[in-house]
Amino acid sequence: MANDASTVFDLVILGGGSGGYAAALRAAQLGLDVALIEKDKVGGTCLHRGCIPTKALLHAGEIADQAREGAEFGVKTTFEGIDIEGVHKYKDGVVSGLYKGLQGLIASRQVTYVTGEGRLSSPTSVDVDGQRYTGRHILLATGSVPKSLPGLAIDGERVITSDHALVLDRVPKSAIVLGGGVIGVEFASAWKSFGTDVTIVEALPHLVPVEDENSSKLLERAFRKRGIKFSLGARFSGVEHTADGVKVSLENGKTFEAELLLVAVGRGPVSQGLGYEEAGVAMDRGYVLVDEYMQTNVPTISAVGDLVPTLQLAHVGFAEGILVAERLAGLKTVPIDYDGVPRVTYCHPEVASVGISEAKAKELYGADKVVALKYSLAGNGKSKILKTSGEIKLVQVRDGAVVGVHMVGDRLGEQVGEAQLIYNWEALPAEVAQLIHAHPTQNEALGEAHLALAGKPLHAHD
Ligand code: NAI
Repeated sequence: MANDASTVFDLVILGGGSGGYAAALRAAQLGLDVALIEKDKVGGTCLHRGCIPTKALLHAGEIADQAREGAEFGVKTTFEGIDIEGVHKYKDGVVSGLYKGLQGLIASRQVTYVTGEGRLSSPTSVDVDGQRYTGRHILLATGSVPKSLPGLAIDGERVITSDHALVLDRVPKSAIVLGGGVIGVEFASAWKSFGTDVTIVEALPHLVPVEDENSSKLLERAFRKRGIKFSLGARFSGVEHTADGVKVSLENGKTFEAELLLVAVGRGPVSQGLGYEEAGVAMDRGYVLVDEYMQTNVPTISAVGDLVPTLQLAHVGFAEGILVAERLAGLKTVPIDYDGVPRVTYCHPEVASVGISEAKAKELYGADKVVALKYSLAGNGKSKILKTSGEIKLVQVRDGAVVGVHMVGDRLGEQVGEAQLIYNWEALPAEVAQLIHAHPTQNEALGEAHLALAGKPLHAHD
């Protein structure tokens, strides 16, 4: 193992988030000498400022809702309030446990772990605090940070990003969420559960606008029922401070006031001043460009994760990192089908999907070649028990495979596993209908939707 930094590593990785550390673990497993350079904490955005802590907040929100709703199930509960310190303690406990585990894993795979801020100094080296780490191959995995809009200054107090929202020392009385994408609706959901008066401002005509329109509409209906307010189809124009908060104006002249503004208008790549351009790496608006094997135009340099213009999801980062490790180890690799990546938004109710939307399918195959079927959770016993509503929508190429599964309902994120097998194995509705789904589960709703699509609905109308 190359512990001596003067030696040449097989792979030097810049950035220890989901993409970088997955590449390090897999490459080490395949016998490569790996150096992993991280300026902060291994695990990156997902573990420390993203997926994991936000889902802990959302789960705390779910418990709050259950305490409020006990009577609906004949259980005497009262919601007394949120102890935000207690919520943070729980959330931080989850993160630190996973962080310890990950550090142990990296040590056990004998990856050379370097703490410090690295900079690409040539197509085959990264400098960290005056020390050069040379590799036969370099992997760039420096991730992303929250974006803002031109002229919209983040002050960390009244105008904040998800980084600040995650460590906020109080439950805000009211909040405006700018951006009805994934981060926007997840925070809106958690805060509403905690008792905040929330308004979402989204420029496009729908919440979660990249989802199938049916999912957006179902989420909007559910949010309206929960008392989460939203303004769609009008762009943000400015924010000013008031005596006790912020006043947000939209281009259509509407204004909203609240204690704070959460800016959730996307995340942008971290690539400035890191030597990428100087090394000749082709870039576009800060993203590093790669081919379908995550290779940049410089033969010794690859890039993965939020730094490249693919889906910004931790599991995509893992897959891209593994792909690079396996390619460098000489294994046969297959490009990622990004439509086949499962997507889950963990708001209440959850939105989950895999494959393509009905609109995209019609574009690709022609409107008369596409069949769509909606199965309501009203016919699903377990969803009734949980008192959740929603739908599973299937998109099929006529007489062919299922090319899209779009689900809205509490806990349906957990059903995306079977949905991704259906999409990725190009299953026919009749093949899925043949499989027996356990009763009573929410999973059964997927089976029943396919029974209906195959022309033999059980608990659904013809
Ligand atoms: P996003 O791209 O999902 O949503 C940003 C939203 O802001 C868009 O809907 C956009 O139309 C809107 N917007 C932009 N400019 C606006 C303006 N001037 N006025 C009003 N609205 C405006 O980005 P988001 O939510 O910040 O998330 C960043 C990334 O993190 C996403 O790519 C997402 O995939 C990832 N993520 C994934 C999660 C998950 O898988 N559960 C959870 C959180 C984040």
